[in-house]
Amino acid sequence: LGQSIHYLESTESTQKIAHQLAMEGCPEGTLVIAEEQVNGRGRLTRTWYSPKYTGIWMSLVLRPKLPPIMAPQFTLIAAVAVVQAIEEVCGLYPGIKWPNDILMGGRKVTGILTELQADSDRINAIIIGIGINVNQEKEDFPEELRHIATSLFVEKGEKISRAGLVQCILLKLEKYYQIYMDRGFAPLKILWESYALSLGKNIIAHTLTGKISGRAVGISDEGVLKVEDGNGQIHDIYSADIEM
Ligand code: BTN
Repeated sequence: LGQSIHYLESTESTQKIAHQLAMEGCPEGTLVIAEEQVNGRGRLTRTWYSPKYTGIWMSLVLRPKLPPIMAPQFTLIAAVAVVQAIEEVCGLYPGIKWPNDILMGGRKVTGILTELQADSDRINAIIIGIGINVNQEKEDFPEELRHIATSLFVEKGEKISRAGLVQCILLKLEKYYQIYMDRGFAPLKILWESYALSLGKNIIAHTLTGKISGRAVGISDEGVLKVEDGNGQIHDIYSADIEM
């Protein structure tokens, strides 16, 4: 991964560029990385704050020969790779909030956005967008983000090498992608669960169609969150914001 790198000083969104490159047939492993995004995108039509020189804003193109239903698993695989890279490079121990938030002390340090180009039975490309708050100081975050976001610098008290972290993430992702293609999701599911913050806890899942309260009991082999309500009924959550 990362054999072909598109480095940009400033861009609207690395995700947008990666989508274009994928449409044009770029090779698997193509990486788009920017110093700044002026219109960074988050999940569910949110924006992603991406100031210059302080974070990692990147999008990776994968082309697994798989049906589109497998795509959500890639968010979880990427989350495992990023958590382990943060552990290794920074000596910090973040956790994962399903599906894609990487948190430290309850604040978000990384978001992952997985998007798909596919027809009904085959993936053309998966675009994995990773945004990591690396060297921002606390005061650098806009007021409205200060209580929900943090950076590796704020947590560690030392500046972190962004290049070193990117390299480590790509190596981990490559390894886990290989394991996934050889042996399926099961080994990665175990790893993901070992970092999960929400499992076993009472949560509220805010979905498009309403909210479901209950205990997060696990994830399925597809990466779907399982929530058990007060009546013992299990709900499959495909997409939601989780309140813990
Ligand atoms: C989220 O938690 O809502 C996902 C945030 C994903 C942000 C990254 S930064 C690199 C890539 N380009 C974007 O515009 N978004 C993703």
